[in-house]
Amino acid sequence: MRTLPFLWRYGRRYTGWILLALVSVATYALATGGVVALVEPLFGEVLMTDERPGAAALVDVEPPPPAAPASAARQPATWLDELKEKLNLRAALQGGYASLKRRLGINADNVVYLVPLLMVVVLLVRSLASFLSGYSFQHIGLGMTTDMRNDLFRRIVDQSSHFHEAHTSGELVSRVVTDVTVMQNASTSRLLDLFQQTPTLLVLLVVLLNINFELALVCLVVAPVFVYPIARFGKGMWRTSHRSQERMADLTQLLSEATRGHRVVKAFGMEDFEHTRFAAATGRHLRVKLRAQILTHVSGPVVEALAAIGAAVFLVYAGKAVRSGQLTASVLVQFMTALMMLYEPVRKLNKVNLILQEARAAAQRVAGILAVPNRVRDRAGATEAGGFRESIRFEGVTFGYGAEAVLREVELEIRRGEVVAVVGPSGAGKSTLINLLPRFYDPDAGRITIDGVDIRDLTLESLRGLIGIVTQETVLFDETVRNNIAYGRSDLPLAAVREAAAAAYADEFILDLPAGYDTRIGESGMRLSGGQRQRLAIARALLKNAPILILDEATSHLDSESEALVQKALYNLMRARTSLVIAHRLSTVKSADRIIVMEAGRITQIGTHAELLAEGGTYKRLHDLQFRA
Ligand SMILES: Nc1ncnc2c1ncn2[C@@H]1O[C@H](COP(=O)(O)OP(=O)(O)OP(=O)(O)O)[C@@H](O)[C@H]1O
Ligand SMILES: [Mg+2]
Repeated sequence: MRTLPFLWRYGRRYTGWILLALVSVATYALATGGVVALVEPLFGEVLMTDERPGAAALVDVEPPPPAAPASAARQPATWLDELKEKLNLRAALQGGYASLKRRLGINADNVVYLVPLLMVVVLLVRSLASFLSGYSFQHIGLGMTTDMRNDLFRRIVDQSSHFHEAHTSGELVSRVVTDVTVMQNASTSRLLDLFQQTPTLLVLLVVLLNINFELALVCLVVAPVFVYPIARFGKGMWRTSHRSQERMADLTQLLSEATRGHRVVKAFGMEDFEHTRFAAATGRHLRVKLRAQILTHVSGPVVEALAAIGAAVFLVYAGKAVRSGQLTASVLVQFMTALMMLYEPVRKLNKVNLILQEARAAAQRVAGILAVPNRVRDRAGATEAGGFRESIRFEGVTFGYGAEAVLREVELEIRRGEVVAVVGPSGAGKSTLINLLPRFYDPDAGRITIDGVDIRDLTLESLRGLIGIVTQETVLFDETVRNNIAYGRSDLPLAAVREAAAAAYADEFILDLPAGYDTRIGESGMRLSGGQRQRLAIARALLKNAPILILDEATSHLDSESEALVQKALYNLMRARTSLVIAHRLSTVKSADRIIVMEAGRITQIGTHAELLAEGGTYKRLHDLQFRA
């Protein structure tokens, strides 16, 4: 997966903002150059540091022709001279400045107003450009990453169960939260730096070369001596801060495990063990932090010392140049201003690479998740399921999660209005069988039909609309009881919700909760008992009022008495529907129209309770085991 095309998929929705961003960074760079350009007249004309006798003759801002170069000019032109000639914007700028002054009627006295005014204008433009570029980069970055998060969430939720088995929820959380945040930070801050500081750097370099070509070359050759240590320190700092974040993540992980599992920790007498583990982790964190401190506190003095040496050399050279009349004081100040302004882009650009590398890795991980094809999806030309009239048929269905088959050539017909119970030992494939009906997985061979139509030729939405399901693991959300039952349909009247709850024998205990139907039930319904959770899940499935009802061990956490009650109520409801019920307790399946016995992925017996008992075999054996007592 290439990173740029991937990013462009999101970026192209923001072309207007991108345009604005580019225009404003260019303006920013030019205005920065403008500030430097104004330094010379500021010092030379306004503050008159040059103290030339003819200072009033303002048109002559050219430094007096140096004495020596006369001989140099006679030498054949080298490539250096050519480059110098090409880069010479100075003359043009000065010409423009002079004609502006002529037109405005500026003389030696009122130039005191002109230059500061121009300075203000240029600085205002620069500030405005800085704001616009900063904001537009934020807008693009935040917008793109928000779109990306939404896409990721959609894709993850749409994905088949295969996907969710291959990717842990922790991994997905870190893709959606951490990786996208890394990209967000990189794009809003570092990308801005890259786009804003690169042209600024170039403009400043051109300005430097224009102010004094030789001096600029000397500085450029010497610069790496200073930039390199700064870069090194930057890298070191970044690495340690990264590592310290990782260590911090270890701490959080340990803390959350120890608090969530506090009962297990105590029951196993492992407080000391946990404490030692935690102390070791804080120790690692401390060491990383202290290393970072050394780097922080060494880097300043080292860079300062280098800068002092550099400044000394520069001043010696500059002093000589001023004395010999090669440089005026104002030009020198201008040069130094440009040099100092160069520091900021260099410092910022130095960090760009590392962070962008990290963001690129994050982008690739996110793109990887988005690129995983969904194995269960609508076929081209899939039709809407109109309803359910006759029967569901499993025709030679074979299925395995991996290489090994979990269901082998299952043949089964369920007629409309039937209650079919599925029993069998743990691991026989009961849950697997019913999970194929809403297409959580597709069969490897054979097919499943509803009213003769292969379910893969129906749209997923309409197929799933036909099915109400209570899964083996009760899934509840940190929401009110009412919203858990109504799940997403906030328009339903409370009466309808209560009716479903009553059918699931839940109404009574719900009314006993502190806020009744408006009680929040905590993460995964933590504040409810196992049986109460199951009854909410049943109520939710009943409220959907779908023609096909699937219950996978839906009453396993209830005591025998309430299970019997719930079952009785359910069977009444099931009469109007077609139901598939998985249960371990045979007492709950006795009244089913037909009972299916599954063993090792095959259906081994089918019949009513009485028929199967008469037949002998597995059902009778299971029955005798459960009812011997
Ligand atoms: N997601 C999965 N990935 C891989 N193998 C699985 C998966 N789910 C189930 N299996 C395997 O498939 C087989 C059938 O599992 P299934 O959940 O259908 O059994 P079951 O009859 O519902 O058992 P139980 O009564 O314990 O719920 C088991 O051997 C199980 O290990
Ligand atoms: Mg199961």
